[in-house]
Amino acid sequence: MIAEPTYTLESLSAQLAGLSEIDAMRKLAELFPGQVVFSTSLGYEDQVITDLIVQNNLPIRIFTLDTGRMFGETYSVWNKTLSRYGIPIETMYPKQEAVEALMTGKGPFSMYESVENRKECCFIRKVEPLNRALAGQKIWITGIRAEQSANRTSMPQLEWDEAHGLFKFHPLMDWTFEQVKEYVRANNVPYNPLHDRGFVSIGCQPCTRAIQPGEDFRAGRWWWEDNSKKECGLHSK
Ligand code: ADX
Ligand code: SF4
Repeated sequence: MIAEPTYTLESLSAQLAGLSEIDAMRKLAELFPGQVVFSTSLGYEDQVITDLIVQNNLPIRIFTLDTGRMFGETYSVWNKTLSRYGIPIETMYPKQEAVEALMTGKGPFSMYESVENRKECCFIRKVEPLNRALAGQKIWITGIRAEQSANRTSMPQLEWDEAHGLFKFHPLMDWTFEQVKEYVRANNVPYNPLHDRGFVSIGCQPCTRAIQPGEDFRAGRWWWEDNSKKECGLHSK
């Protein structure tokens, strides 16, 4: 039996060096057949990646985490995406007992009361389902871009994710917001109508609001918390 090759961050980065985002995703799918997944929040960047995956027939599974607190507009673009591309979007839900206990004990807006409460809600509705979605996978593709926050500016396109024991790949890392918008327009990609109303980064309804021109991309997420606390636990940055 031939042993499966193992990759270090350096050796895998070398395999991807100089490749376009499409070729890099294709290469990853070849190297790790059946173990490459893409997480979509149905936001602008993620819609571009879905389009790239489908138009290029890349064997990469797509999943979303439905927190149960998404905007109606997000469900609407989700449905349009299914009709447009004819692909399944695997859907992960939080554990029923955990949501029942949270809502019974603390009600629907506990996230505003403390950072601990907010993180508890994020853990139940996103982090735990994400852990199940990533179990057994080798590559996790996301729509993170460097421009999105100060923390993300210095992130590499490929990273080792110790917590999940896999590599994370961010194909659009160096794209500007203008490039993303232009791709969506030029390819007639379905997108969340909230993007036309000042929403840049879109998460759960209680925890996302529109931003003013010139504000930081993530200023509309958990706006009542200070910047150092703002990540939801899906990503460490
Ligand atoms: S978060 O950390 O603030 O929640 P952000 O909204 O910036 O994340 O999205 C970054 C990437 O995380 C997205 O491109 C997507 O890959 C993934 N992601 C975020 N939210 C979800 C979700 N609900 N379901 C699946 N993937 C998600
Ligand atoms: Fe809960 Fe808000 Fe986190 Fe969504 S973003 S899981 S509603 S705390």
